[in-house]
Order: sequence, then structure tokens, then C-alpha cells
Amino acid sequence: MVSAVKHLISLDEQCGGSIAGERKQLDPCTIVIFGASGDLTARKLIPALYHLFKEEQMPPSFRVVGFARREKTDASWRQELRTALDQFSRTKPVDEKVWHAFADNLSYCQGDLTDDAAYKKLEELLTSFGSAPLRENILFYLAISPSQFGEVVEQVHRCGLLNKEASAWQRLVVEKPFGHDLASARALNQELTRYAHESQVFRIDHYLGKETVQNILMFRFSNSIFERLWNRESVDHVQITVSEKIGVGERGGYYEEAGALRDMVQNHMLQVLSLIAMEPPVSLAAEAVRDEKVKLLKSIRALSPADVAKQVVRGQYFAGSVDGQPRPGYRQETKVNPSSNVETFAALKLFIDNWRWSDVPFYLRTGKNLPQSASEVRIQFRPTPNVLFAAKCGEKLDANALTLRLQPNEGISLRFNGKVPGMSLGVRPVRMHFSYDSEFGAYTPEAYERLLLEAIAGDATLFIRRDEVETAWKIADSIRAGWADKPLTNREFYAAGTWGPVAADDLLAQLGHTWHEPQVIK
Ligand code: BG6
Repeated sequence: MVSAVKHLISLDEQCGGSIAGERKQLDPCTIVIFGASGDLTARKLIPALYHLFKEEQMPPSFRVVGFARREKTDASWRQELRTALDQFSRTKPVDEKVWHAFADNLSYCQGDLTDDAAYKKLEELLTSFGSAPLRENILFYLAISPSQFGEVVEQVHRCGLLNKEASAWQRLVVEKPFGHDLASARALNQELTRYAHESQVFRIDHYLGKETVQNILMFRFSNSIFERLWNRESVDHVQITVSEKIGVGERGGYYEEAGALRDMVQNHMLQVLSLIAMEPPVSLAAEAVRDEKVKLLKSIRALSPADVAKQVVRGQYFAGSVDGQPRPGYRQETKVNPSSNVETFAALKLFIDNWRWSDVPFYLRTGKNLPQSASEVRIQFRPTPNVLFAAKCGEKLDANALTLRLQPNEGISLRFNGKVPGMSLGVRPVRMHFSYDSEFGAYTPEAYERLLLEAIAGDATLFIRRDEVETAWKIADSIRAGWADKPLTNREFYAAGTWGPVAADDLLAQLGHTWHEPQVIK
């Protein structure tokens, strides 16, 4: 099967190959990272910028300014980042020549986020670059706590670095968590848009930077064979799994405030769901795509507390083992309350009340300390009427399924029935696989490379709009309201290394469905 697909693709290459989008040259700019001493800068942002530079994707001239409280010089900051790059770079070894050329653009600005003088220093540093575009085109990356957003935005506005009405461009990139409920998200939105337009705010969801997540739209809307089946007439149900082998590790403090619902469902999972289920946008313009995503989120049937009891399952891991390695229970993790009721697993059955999806269940599940780390979407098609083969092959024929593997082993598989070779009439489900690596080689840019590049280019398609984030919080809040402050019951615990509590299986059994384990492609 694989070779059949390959053959088709190589034929396609002979007929013209791929069509690559052209990007206009990027404006010279400065990227100011607030929270430059943090983990995100060393692990993600600098490696991403280094790779963009290496692949000649950065603007012809640019600067990166790290703003943080600790005392450092340009040289010591660069040295620190260089050491981190050795560890976190996706290509190894780091190219010395490229690094040195890149590092020449890095400057450090020491200061406290609440100190007026520090912003003045920042303004002077940008002016010292001696070029109007480097002083005026600015990407502010807020790798800091959301409680500090308001202060930073006001300060950079006051010292003339951020304006709503500038002839140059200034943008704010913000990280998750974007609030912890609808009210706090609204308050943050208000703070950010006090001195910037919504069009200047780029809210990151790193899932949207993943190559395979972006491919969902390409796959759906550039192939005629699947899109016409993409509806209630043909689809029985959809399963979206984002499972992780890791526990909460050192992040117990953060996780106690978040839980799986806020950490994964409100953002990453609802984003994947909206791309899978949305209507075709009128164009690929950021607003057109985001209009459709919001419309989809708004069509998700509201959950009353009674619905939550029937349609949402939460779980928390107790001690167990993953890959033969012992794992502590969540309540024994560092910085976790020993009687915590925070969920480390969530499974949902959602319905989308629109013409296309009415009554088709969408099952979502995510959790920590599960047996596999995998993200995938499975479109389970309706079974055929089994009139022809029932007598010889049994009552139940396997229904077709299409699986989009978001990670790892990125690719797409189609499952269908085939005749077992031989004299008798045996049937067996077989799979046709497409794999990114074998088709396109191992080049997969990190999500942050794509997202930083898009933010510099000013394309907001892969970022979350204000109404989108607020609609997603409404859904998460309705679930939290259903859970209220009820403690977890015995049925809601699962051993580390298993696929979540039994209640998650019961959730699907209500309609005769079962969870499918993510595919492992060798
Ligand atoms: C983050 C969550 O947003 O996404 C983490 O805070 C989670 O808890 C991570 O582990 C998963 O991302 P990825 O890219 O590893 O699937």
C-alpha cells in the first residue's frame, strides 16, 4: 500500500511537483523578549530564531533584545544562550559560523518590569541601533506572567515604543496560559488592547505552529475525495487524542492552578477540533480562517452541569509505571497538595450543532502519565450495510477510518477492508500509510520557528483571536461549573501508565464506541 501511495506521489511530482507560497521580504525589526532569563527563551525562542537565521528566513537586518532582571552583559547572555543551544537545538552540532553571525544581533537589557528607568534604557538601546526600522518595527514577546502584561504594555507605550497609530509596526506576542477563565481572559484582553489594537496582539498556541496541524486545512480543502465525506452523512464519530507519557514533573505548582482542562483542552484540543470541523474559509486571510474557527467553537452544544456529568470525565493518576519505570501519584508530586482534586486527565463528548455535524459525537481525551505520547485525530466513518459478506465473513465489518497523526510519526493513514488472499472469503482491515518523513525527509521546523516568522511577517492566521480565546473559555468554564468543587470519586483515578479512568471508556460505550489506541508506525 505504501508503495502505491509513493507511486502516485512521484507521478504527481513529474506533473509539476509542489506549489510553494512566496513570502514578501520581511521588514527590518527588533524582537524584544521580556522574561529573557526564563526557560522558554533558552529552550524555544533562541533555538527557533537561530534556525530561522540559519535558513535565511530572518529579515535582512534585525536585533534581538533580552529584557530581564538578572545582571548580565551582552557577552554573558550570549554565552548562556550558546550553552543552551547545544542542548536544545534541533540540528546538531550548532554551526559555529552561523552562531557567531547570529549572536552579533543579540543584546541584553537589564531591568525590573516595574521600573520606569529600565524602559527608558530599553528605548535608548533601540535608538542606539541607528536605524529607524530597527527602532520602530518591534515585536514584543511577553514570556512573562500574565499578571505583568498590563504593566509592560503601559510602560512600552509610555516610552514611545508601542503605539496604536504608528506608521511602522509594533506587535505583542503573548504566551499561554491566557487567563484562567472567561473573566480573567477578558480582563487580559482589555489590558493588552488599551495601548494596542487587536490586530497587533498575537496570542500563541504552539499547536498551531505544528506542521501537521497546519496540514489539516491543506488536507481537507485541497483534496476532493475526503471533503465530500467530511460530514454527518459519512462520519460516525471523531476521536481526538493528545496523550502524554510524562507526568507533571517539576510543574506541580503551575499544574495545581491549571489541570488538564485549562492546560490542554481549552487551547490545543479545541484548536485542533476547530480546524478539523470548521467550514471552508472564504480565503486564507487570517480573519477569514479565524472567523470560521470561532463559528465552529460557537456551534459546540453548550454543556449544562447535568450534561457535564454525562459527557465529561476527569481523572487523576495514582502511582504506577510507564515503560516499566515507577511513577509517583499526582498527589505525591512536588508542589502538589496531597489531597488535590486537580484533573490530570480529561475526556469529553461534544456535539457540534450545525448542518454538517449535527449529532456526530466528537470525543476528545488528553492526559499525563498515559502509556503513549501521541496526538492524533481519527475520523471514524459509518459502516456499510453488511448484506453481502455477513454470511461468510461475520456480522460486523470493520468501518473505514482515517487517522491524522499529528505527532510522532507525523502522517495520515486510511484503514479499509481487504480480502485475505486465498480460496476462502476472508476479510481483514488493512492500512494505507502516508508518512511525512519518508515523503519529504526529516525536515520538520519547530512550532516556534513558524510562529515567530509569522508574527514578524504580521500574519495572524496561526494566532488566536480575542473572540476565539473567549469562546474557548466559555466552554471550559461550563465544564468547571459542572465539576463545581466536588472531590474526585474512586472511579476517577487511574494508575500511571494506563489509558485513564474506566469512566472514560464508559463515556464512549454509551453509543457503542471504543477508544482507539494511537497508531504506532514503525
Ligand atoms: C503545553 C502544556 O502547552 O503543551 C504541557 O502546558 C504539555 O503540559 C505541552 O506537555 C504538550 O505540547 P507538545 O508539543 O509536547 O505536544
